[in-house]
Amino acid sequence: MFRIATKKKLNDAVTLMEIEAPEIAKKALAGQFIIFKIDEFGERVPLTIADTDPVRGTVTIIFQIVGRSTMLLDQLNVGDTIADFVGPLGIPTHIEGIKKVCIVGGGVGCAIAYPSAKALFNAGAEVDIIAGFRSQDIVILEDEMKKVCKNYYLMTDDGTAGEKGFTTTKLKSLLEAGNQYDMVIAIGPIIMMKLLCDTAKPFNVPCTVSLNPIMIDGTGMCGCCRVTVDGVMRFACVEGPDFDGHKVDFDELMKRNSIYKEREQHDREHVCKLTGGIRTHG
Ligand SMILES: Cc1cc2nc3c(=O)[nH]c(=O)nc-3n(C[C@H](O)[C@H](O)[C@H](O)COP(=O)(O)OP(=O)(O)OC[C@H]3O[C@@H](n4cnc5c(N)ncnc54)[C@H](O)[C@@H]3O)c2cc1C
Ligand code: FES
Repeated sequence: MFRIATKKKLNDAVTLMEIEAPEIAKKALAGQFIIFKIDEFGERVPLTIADTDPVRGTVTIIFQIVGRSTMLLDQLNVGDTIADFVGPLGIPTHIEGIKKVCIVGGGVGCAIAYPSAKALFNAGAEVDIIAGFRSQDIVILEDEMKKVCKNYYLMTDDGTAGEKGFTTTKLKSLLEAGNQYDMVIAIGPIIMMKLLCDTAKPFNVPCTVSLNPIMIDGTGMCGCCRVTVDGVMRFACVEGPDFDGHKVDFDELMKRNSIYKEREQHDREHVCKLTGGIRTHG
């Protein structure tokens, strides 16, 4: 059992929790993730390790409430426990040799981008961050991100905070202004990552993307997380989640990720007739 040490609402749909998991806190590196299972009836859900505190033995997760499991997790409070919390999983983000980087986070993707920005900043790289949100009320991690970069560019679709426009608009203008990045690291909605790669390509800038295919076992056994990269089938849980964005088949990924859409909608709305939806947390 893994105890919730702290809980903080970052906005209406995004929550931060620190979970007591000392072994993971000791080992985790930027770019890795955990898989949690809320209780014995729960499904396995992957979430990026947003931060760790090896001294307190805690792992920070930041999650968007999108469906049943994240809704149930959000209903727990400090002192409650989660049945399973497995990690660190996945290959850490490659940071060696990167001297100047542009990290782009879209929405809750900023929670996944933050640990990579922090790792690169601490390793001495010059870090620019572009953070994109639909509007001002859902901006997260602004203060934290500002501490781990040289330039922080906030973009909103409606112009209610920062600059009006998309992350792609900002990346294009930075590249056109002559910024020479060793790498663009893009994390967020699949369509945003695809368009950022398209933006960087004419400037010959390499792009790393963190992929979020459906994952189940997280150990390379079930095959659920398969993605096509450079025409080859790869398993994101053990070979990723980071991949060369110029080689990812984004269209296939978008199709595969919507396979369970109807079923997920049903699970969100379904209330068990036997228990009335009540679950026990030990
Ligand atoms: C490596 C990795 C890291 C992630 N890190 C974060 C994070 O830090 N913060 C965050 O908010 N989200 C993160 N996600 C996405 C998160 O796993 C899904 O939002 C979550 O599974 C939704 O579960 P649900 O039951 O609440 O919603 P559901 O109703 O089950 O699903 C809603 C949507 O979530 C996605 N999803 C559902 N199940 C899975 C699954 N098993 N694996 C992957 N995606 C799924 C699908 O796109 C689906 O449409 C990550 C995904 C991956 C693969
Ligand atoms: S999640 Fe099962 S193989 Fe990757």
